[in-house]
Amino acid sequence: MFVNRKKEFHLLKTVISSVEKNEHNNIAIIGNRRIGKTELLLEFKRTQNNKNIVMPYLNVQRVGDLQSFILSYYRELLFEIGKKRKLVANKTEFSNWDDILILSAKIEIDDISGKLKAKKGIQALDFLFESQETILKKTGYPAVFLLDEFQYVKNFGNRFTEIMRSIVEKQQKTAYIVTGSSISMMEEIFSKSSEPFFAQFRRMYLGFLNKQNSKKLTEMFLNKHNINIDNQPNNEIFRLTNGHPFYIISLCHGLIEEFDDSSIDTIKHVFLKETLSPKGDIYLVLDYIFNQSLSRAYKGKIHRQILLILAKKQGLTLTEISKDLNKPSGEVSNYMKKLLTTDLIIREENNYFFRDPLLAFWIKYTYLGINDIELEKKKVVDSLIEELTEKYLQASSELGRTKEYEFKVKLEEKYDIKFSNYVSSDRKREFDLVGKKHDVYYIAEVKWRNRKGSIKDIIDFSKKIQNSFFSDKKKTMLFISKSGFDKKALQEAQKEEIHCLDKNLNKIV
Ligand SMILES: Nc1ncnc2c1ncn2[C@@H]1O[C@H](COP(=O)(O)OP(=O)(O)OP(=O)(O)O)[C@@H](O)[C@H]1O
Ligand SMILES: [Mg+2]
Repeated sequence: MFVNRKKEFHLLKTVISSVEKNEHNNIAIIGNRRIGKTELLLEFKRTQNNKNIVMPYLNVQRVGDLQSFILSYYRELLFEIGKKRKLVANKTEFSNWDDILILSAKIEIDDISGKLKAKKGIQALDFLFESQETILKKTGYPAVFLLDEFQYVKNFGNRFTEIMRSIVEKQQKTAYIVTGSSISMMEEIFSKSSEPFFAQFRRMYLGFLNKQNSKKLTEMFLNKHNINIDNQPNNEIFRLTNGHPFYIISLCHGLIEEFDDSSIDTIKHVFLKETLSPKGDIYLVLDYIFNQSLSRAYKGKIHRQILLILAKKQGLTLTEISKDLNKPSGEVSNYMKKLLTTDLIIREENNYFFRDPLLAFWIKYTYLGINDIELEKKKVVDSLIEELTEKYLQASSELGRTKEYEFKVKLEEKYDIKFSNYVSSDRKREFDLVGKKHDVYYIAEVKWRNRKGSIKDIIDFSKKIQNSFFSDKKKTMLFISKSGFDKKALQEAQKEEIHCLDKNLNKIV
């Protein structure tokens, strides 16, 4: 049961069409825990299986060290080739080096497998990536490797990405689709200029399901269990879960288990139970995310205290948090830096927010020790839901680094062309979103901040274009700003023929 993420699927398919033409196109899917990354990869593998292409899947988190990564990676690759050739059918019969060597003999690559088995560490890794191309050329299949939870390769030492990159660059028969739930680590790997993979992968941020798909998922799930859901209660499920697939499914499980109706009151009650009662599925995942992320911040106690302050009031500044903690802001600034690396919170301008507003709500009420008996009271449920939807969820719909992707979709609808992130071939210039229609380039800059776009923003954008490939091309320049523009910015934009757009892509003049 998969609710189609059409746009994402379309993008993933371009990886296949590119590798079929021996072109490079790698994608990094970045998204919060339980947002549906694995589901998307596996569904993609399932539906594209008929093509003349192999798609090995590996979850890097499950692999302990470099040696087992090499074995698992190679095993998956050969297994997929063996399957295409109808030489193996079952993974359980294909688990160790002996099985690999037997299959290798059948596809006449036993010399490669023998050598790989004898090598250790970085040399083995180097050889693995080198031989992959030889094997694919020999067997005639291009490969799209699906590497789930890719950021865990960082555990295999610093040289891993260096080696992988130097070889990936030369490969023609392999493309990669990788995922990662540690957003800051993934961004570091793929967007930091000093990292080997800088600008080598197109980043795709996986967000919540849209309203239509969210409702479809609910409907499909409940109908399977013989529960009908009307439009209004289904809207309520979307409102509470924000379209988060795991939250939707947990809520539906709760509805199925305890009740035979799906009225709005029941939905509210079950959602809160799933979230705030230790028996709930959402509780379990939030608890895991909270503790696992915090374990990365060494001053556990004080970090917890800061999170609690933020959970009670989102959007505080460093000064406000320091005041509340009664500590100097220099010291608190260090704590905040550490907390930002946990992915629990984000900073927008000078204000700090939880990445997932439901987690903020959860921290506040689990700290206050709300219990299951209280959650049975309708009055308590109603007031909690009101607080959740009005104070937490609403504020969050304005946030998030998924904005670039969201605007890609909106711009594509508005202009009826494809937009993508653009990086110049010397890797020095990057534009948020660029598309082309007939001879005209559409170049968009997205600023998602709480202050108005300034004259400097406009001048910078204009200069960046003048110094780029687009300088003498026919173009439409678009500047999107969450908080609008100040007067001078608008005047300058008019001079420079830059279109200023608000968050709904309406033109501001
Ligand atoms: N498009 C979808 N259609 C139907 N169900 C979905 C979809 N996306 C996600 N789900 C469901 O949501 C849950 C979480 O999905 P999944 O495990 O793929 O998330 P993830 O991002 O890989 O999580 P993690 O970061 O924990 O690995 C699963 O139960 C999955 O079945
Ligand atoms: Mg996953």
